[in-house]
Amino acid sequence: MSRSPATTPLIQAHPQPLRAVPSELDPTRLPAHVAVIMDGNGRWARQRNLPRVMGHREGVEALKRTLRLCSDWGIGALTAYAFSTENWNRPGEEVSFLMTLFERVLARELEALDREQVRIRFLGDLEQLPPGLQELIASATRRTAENSGIHFNVCTNYGGRRELVQAARRLADQVARGELDPANIDEQAFAAELQTADEVDPDLLIRTSGEYRISNFLLWQLAYAEIHITDVLWPDFNEDALLRALNDYQSRQRRFGGVAPLSA
Ligand code: IPE
Ligand code: IPE
Ligand code: MG
Repeated sequence: MSRSPATTPLIQAHPQPLRAVPSELDPTRLPAHVAVIMDGNGRWARQRNLPRVMGHREGVEALKRTLRLCSDWGIGALTAYAFSTENWNRPGEEVSFLMTLFERVLARELEALDREQVRIRFLGDLEQLPPGLQELIASATRRTAENSGIHFNVCTNYGGRRELVQAARRLADQVARGELDPANIDEQAFAAELQTADEVDPDLLIRTSGEYRISNFLLWQLAYAEIHITDVLWPDFNEDALLRALNDYQSRQRRFGGVAPLSA
């Protein structure tokens, strides 16, 4: 994430594209929020006879590329699935490698992220992460909280079901304390208890590596997301692949349960 130092913020609150949006896209119909399930790191490494963890290392580069492009094109939020509540089931060495990788990358990139006005947050059960990583997360979140650029949400030890259960528990606590009437629990009240409370729902979900499932990601928030699945493995995800996803998104007609308008 290196870009020449700037005296004025590079990214605005309602971001104007920093770089021309490619002409094949309609700049007025970009998704406000893109979510991505970064899958296929292990297979990328296996194809090259490398250990799986090398795929994770290369995956970081793909994430940096994607964040840069989304930010440059004025997309408001990028939410990336980095580690699920189920990923603890992986071999211990792979889990420790990932935790160390998150820590190293965050320490290394924080300065540039901040300089570029990225607002970074981590979604998930953070208390189960290694203490060093938790501290870095807390300081990165604090340091970038007022930044005016893209919202970059990294889901780490995140599970959609767990997030829903915790929201339900918080609402139940408020009822038990007499602060909330159960009759006032509506969709808005529920969404306000989720970790994505101040974020619009994702318009587009991208999943790489050709798997047709959502693997416990953003179960509530993806209710009306358009889904783009590509065979590209995450470490190979690049501008071309993102353009294809955005083109696919712009080709969809979003009906939200309504009917298609009659064509003129
Ligand atoms: C995604 O790649 C990264 C994480 C889940 C941390 P994978 O590690 O799942 O790669 P594949 O699916 O085994 O190829
Ligand atoms: C989903 O990928 C989780 C992340 C990308 C962090 P997985 O590789 O863990 O998903 P499954 O096991 O194929 O469903
Ligand atoms: Mg996978």
